[in-house]
Amino acid sequence: MPASSLEQIVSLAKRRGFVFPSSAVYGGLASTWDYGPLGVELKNNVKRAWWRTVVHERDDMEGLDAAILMNRLVWKYSGHEATFADPMMDCRACKARPRADHVFAAQKGRDPKGMPEINAAIAAKELKCPKCGSTDLTEARPFNLMFKTTVGPVADESAVAYLRPETAQGIFVNFGNVLDTMRRKLPFGVAQIGKAFRNEITPGNFTFRTREFEQMEIEYFVKPGEDEAAHQMWIDARTQWYVDLGLRRENLRQREQGKEELAHYAKRCVDLEYRFPMGWSELEGIANRTDFDLLAHSRGPENPDSIAELRYFDQEQKKHIVPYVIEPSAGADRATLAFLCDAYDESLVTEPAAEETAKLREQVASFARSVDKRDPKTMEPETKRRLVEAAERIGAGLPGTLPELLGLCDDADANKIEVWKKVRGLAEKMGEEHTRTVLHLHPRLAPITVAVFPLKKNEPRLVEMARGIKKELQTAGLRAVYDDTGAIGKLYRRQDEIGTPFCITVDFKSLEDGTVTVRDRDTMGQERAARAELAVNLRNKVG
Ligand code: GAP
Repeated sequence: MPASSLEQIVSLAKRRGFVFPSSAVYGGLASTWDYGPLGVELKNNVKRAWWRTVVHERDDMEGLDAAILMNRLVWKYSGHEATFADPMMDCRACKARPRADHVFAAQKGRDPKGMPEINAAIAAKELKCPKCGSTDLTEARPFNLMFKTTVGPVADESAVAYLRPETAQGIFVNFGNVLDTMRRKLPFGVAQIGKAFRNEITPGNFTFRTREFEQMEIEYFVKPGEDEAAHQMWIDARTQWYVDLGLRRENLRQREQGKEELAHYAKRCVDLEYRFPMGWSELEGIANRTDFDLLAHSRGPENPDSIAELRYFDQEQKKHIVPYVIEPSAGADRATLAFLCDAYDESLVTEPAAEETAKLREQVASFARSVDKRDPKTMEPETKRRLVEAAERIGAGLPGTLPELLGLCDDADANKIEVWKKVRGLAEKMGEEHTRTVLHLHPRLAPITVAVFPLKKNEPRLVEMARGIKKELQTAGLRAVYDDTGAIGKLYRRQDEIGTPFCITVDFKSLEDGTVTVRDRDTMGQERAARAELAVNLRNKVG
C-alpha cells in the first residue's frame, strides 16, 4: 500500500534518520529540516543522478557552481527586487496574515487576474479571513520573498545583499565566461546545483516548501527560432529522468501553465507535477525564458550598470545574436521527497488478532471524541477537524489502515491529547508485529546499496568473511555496510525499511565453497552467488 498521508513519510523519515526537524533541542524552527545520515545519502544520490544525466551523459552541457551572494544589481536587473513578491493581507479581527491570492482562489474558485482584482474583492467584502471568517481585511500588499543581509562591517543600505532566491541568475551572469572558456557553439547549456532561499509566507508539507532549499537548474541557450523544439526536447527528457529512476508514470503529469500564471520572463512554461500524498503539486518547472535574462544583464539603455554584452556571434549569419533560454528548474528536496513517497510501501504481513484490533479501534474512537470536545481556544478548528477525520477514517478501516495510524503517531497535535499515548502504544506494538515497510528506491538512489550479515555473530569465521566482503564492496565503490545486531529476518526488515536493494548473508556453506546468499528487496527472492562476482554483479544492477 503506498503512503496515503505525508505523516507516514515524516514518521519514517524521523524514525530511520532521513530527515529531522531542525534545531529541535531549542524547540525547532518552523518548516526547517535537517537531512540525517540516510537522508543526506539519498539526496546526494538524487543530485548525483541528475548531474550524471544532464551533464556527464550529454555533449552539449557544462557545469557551474556560482556564489550564493551576488552583487545586488543582479537582483535589480533580473526583476526580483521589484517583482519577486507575494500579495499579503491582514485580518483586523484575528491578526492572521494570509496570502491574498490563495484566499481569492479558494473562495472564488479561480486565480485572480492581479492585485487590483484582489483588492476590489476585499473592498466589496467578498473575501473572508480563512482563520476566523471576518471580512474586516486590509488591502493586499506585496511582500518581497528575498532574504536580505548585509556584506561587511557596516550594516547600511549600501551593504545590502540578498541570499539568492534561485540559482539561475548565477548562470546568466556567467554566460560569457562559459562561452569563452569552453569555446561552445549554440545550442549548449549550463547546469548548476545549489541552495536557494525564499522567505515563503506559507511553507509546509514537510520538505515540499521550505525557506531554504536546493535547486537543480539548467539554462539551455539556443538560437531564437529553435527555442520551441528545444523546449519540447527538455520537457520529454526531464519527464523520462524521473521515470527512469523509478517514479511511476501514473504519478507524474505535465501541466501547461495558463497565460495568467506565467512569470514575467516566460513565453511558455510546463510544470512537471507529482501526485504527492497531499495532491498533485509542482516538482519541476520547464520554462522558455526567451532572451529576457541575457538582455536584462547586458549593457544598454535599460541597464547602464552592466559592463557586458551577453550575446553570441553567429558564424552563419555573421552577426551577434542574443540567445533564447530554456530553463528546466527542479528542486532537489522536492525530487527527494517524491522519490521517497513513490518508493514507500507498507503492508500487513499477518492479520492482528480480532480482540487486539477491537481494543485499538475503541481507543482511536475515544481519541476522536476527546479531540472533538477540545476547547477551540486550545486547538484550532482546522486541526480538530483534521484529527477527528483521520481518527474516524482509520478507526473504521482497521486493521488495513494500521500503516496510516503508524504514520499519524508522530503528529505533534495528536500528541497533545492524553488518550493518544494509549493509541500510540497499542499501534506501535501491533505495527512491529504485523507490518512490513519497504522503500522500493531505485538502486542508484538507495542510501545503502548492500548490507552484509553473518548468519551467526558469535562464529568468528562467518564474521570475518562477512566483514571482508563488505570491505571488497566498499573498495569497488559501492555503499556497503556490515550488521550483526539481530536475527537475519529482523536485519532484512530493517534494511527493507530504508530501501537497501540487496542483502548478503554469509553462512556455513560460504565457508566451504565461497558462495553467499544475495537477497533482493523487491522480490524477496534469494540466490547463491560467488564472492568473486559480487562487486561486478551489483555494480551492473545499480547501473
Ligand atoms: N529559476 C526558476 C525558478 O526558480 P521556481 O518554479 O520558482 O522556478 C523551481 O522553482 C523549482 O524549485 C520548483 O519546481 C521546486 O521544485 C523548487 N522550489 C521552489 N520553491 C521552493 C521551496 N520554497 N521549497 C522547496 N523547493 C522549492
